[in-house]
Order: sequence, then structure tokens, then C-alpha cells
Amino acid sequence: MKKTIKINNKNFKVDIKENLLKFLTPTTPGTKYYDSPPERTINKFEKGRILLQTNQFLYLMNSIGYNLKNKSLLDVGAGNGIVPRLILNFTNLRKCDGTDPFYDGEHTTSWQKHDRDKLFLTLSKFLKDQKNEFDISKYLNSLTQQDFSMRPGKIKLIRNKKTKKMKFYTFGAADLKKLKKKYDIIYCKAIEHISNLTEIIKNINFVTKKGSIVYFKHRSFFSYLGPHRYSSTGIPWGHVLMSSAEYKKYVSKFHKDRKKKMLNFYFSEISYPRFTVNDIIKEFLNNGYQMVLKINENGRFNVEKAKKSKILLDNWKIIEKRYPSLGLEELMSGIYHIIFKKIT
Ligand SMILES: C[S@@+](CC[C@H](N)C(=O)[O-])C[C@H]1O[C@@H](n2cnc3c(N)ncnc32)[C@H](O)[C@@H]1O
Repeated sequence: MKKTIKINNKNFKVDIKENLLKFLTPTTPGTKYYDSPPERTINKFEKGRILLQTNQFLYLMNSIGYNLKNKSLLDVGAGNGIVPRLILNFTNLRKCDGTDPFYDGEHTTSWQKHDRDKLFLTLSKFLKDQKNEFDISKYLNSLTQQDFSMRPGKIKLIRNKKTKKMKFYTFGAADLKKLKKKYDIIYCKAIEHISNLTEIIKNINFVTKKGSIVYFKHRSFFSYLGPHRYSSTGIPWGHVLMSSAEYKKYVSKFHKDRKKKMLNFYFSEISYPRFTVNDIIKEFLNNGYQMVLKINENGRFNVEKAKKSKILLDNWKIIEKRYPSLGLEELMSGIYHIIFKKIT
């Protein structure tokens, strides 16, 4: 089979090994690169990811001078909820809730089925053994598969005497109104899976008040691995270069055996229609928020991505036509941290 595909009447070479597999973290032996992880205990690298996420959250809150004492937090798209649970139990936060419409193993991007309480106890013990201090040098060896570059500084933790319990709701972001509560902090590492940006902000507004902080940890659709391992292509930034019709043709030609799943993830499990980081900022400014901080954490594959970036420069006209508000910075991005504050 000829390994090329026409995009905008021009031939592009397709090479899944070189342009995709090289960029993915290894999967469980016996599974395909596009399979969700099977039921198994959480491994060292996944534990590292949780510790880094929690450490970065606390570090950035410190950096912007935000005191968590007596505050309430809602994690939207909380997954297994371990990050907010650690935040609740190792700070003087007053309360913390989490929402996610899917349980472990139910969404393509969910955590695999595992014992959440056991995982919480293991990570709590790790922090206790570190004398209740976050120090990245103590878990750096579990971050070798992480796409990150922002090393958070040390954070002193406060271990609560009694374990504080979180409340979990099986709501999606579209149903936040049902909570009938306002929170001081909204944390969300799931916005790339939620469609309709205008609705997202409208729903976040139901759970925020003047002074509330909204923190997104976000992998942009337009970044190199924006459609994740499940729907990325064998062409660098193929998902940005191709129109929807061209993407469907690509999937029919190169991934016929999993066409339905691949298209479903692309059009339903990641936000569609797409929105850029610029669109997110615009919507928040329009809704009475200020932007407090924006970091583009460009990590693990920065060099490889830079080497492949010629394809973007050579085809800028196609990209510009499809997504006028998109910039090179977002195409080259790793993970964003964006913090807003409600000011009206
Ligand atoms: C990449 S996972 C992140 C999970 C968790 N925040 C973490 O950091 O481990 C994305 C999460 O988004 C959730 N999700 C999918 N659609 C959603 C929606 N409409 N509203 C809220 N969460 C959603 C999935 O169930 C999944 O748990």
C-alpha cells in the first residue's frame, strides 16, 4: 500500500512508527499502542504523574500568592480523584469535591480499574516518609515518561490528623449547576474532553463567585499529540493539517480495523468543535475573569518536535485557513497551566 495521503491536493508521507510511536509512552505488554490500560495496579510512573500534578498545583498556588486555608475546591473531570484528595489531606483546605461522569475504566482516558483507597494510602505514606514535604528530587526517578519541564520547588505540607473525605459526583461539566454550591477554586485537567466552550464557561459560572480561581491543566488539541494516542496520525500534526473529510479518508485507509473507535474518539471524546487556548482566554475575559497566569510547559519531545516543525512552516497557509486564531506557540506546546480569577 502506498503510504501517502493527499491533503489539500498535496501528497504527505505517512509513517506511524517515526511520527507517532516514537512519541508514545510504552503500553502494558500484550496490548496495542491504542488500547486503554487494562485493569492493573498503578505503576511507578503513574504514581509519579500524580505526585507531580499535585506538587505543581500547590507550587503554582504559592507562586500566585493564593492561600488555601479554609478554601473549598472542586475538581471537574477528577478521574480517580487522587490529586484533589492529596491536596485536601496535605493542606489546610476546608473541603473538596470532585465530579466525573465516568468511573475507572469507563472512558477511553479514564484511569484503569484499581483500588483508589490503597493508592491514596501509598502516596500519603510516601509524603509522610518525606517528612510531609514535596521535593521533586525524591520522586524524579518516576518521571522519566512524563511530558514536563516545570520542576516545582519544595512545598511544606500539613498532614491533617484525621483523614478528610471528598465528595464525588457523577456529573459531567454540563451539569455543574446541579451542585448548587460555589467554590473558591475550580481545578480541571479534563477541558480537552469537554465540548462547547461557551457552555463550559457558563457551567463553571454556576460554581464560582467573585474571587474564585479557575485552574486548567490542558493539553491542546493542536499540540503534537493533541488527539492522544487513540486518534493521532502518522503525519506530524496531521490532525491539524487535515480537514474532517481528509481525516476520515486517512482513517479508512490506514486504520480500517478500528475506524469506528478512532473516529469516535476524535469527534466525540475530545472537544469538538475545536477551541484554541486563545479562544479559552477570550471566553474567560468576556465572562468577568482576569488571567492570572499562563505557562506552556514544553517537555519531553521538544527537540524531536522542533525537528519536525518544518511541516508547519511549509504548510502554514492550510493551517491559517482552517484555524485563523491558532499560533505556532500552541502547535509546539506541551502542557498548559492557565489560571483565571473571577473579578466581577
Ligand atoms: C485525562 S483524564 C484526567 C483525569 C484526572 N483529572 C487526572 O488528572 O487524573 C480526563 C477525564 O475527563 C473526564 N471527562 C470526560 N468527559 C467529561 C465531561 N463531559 N465532563 C467532565 N469530565 C469529563 C474523563 O472521565 C476522565 O476522567
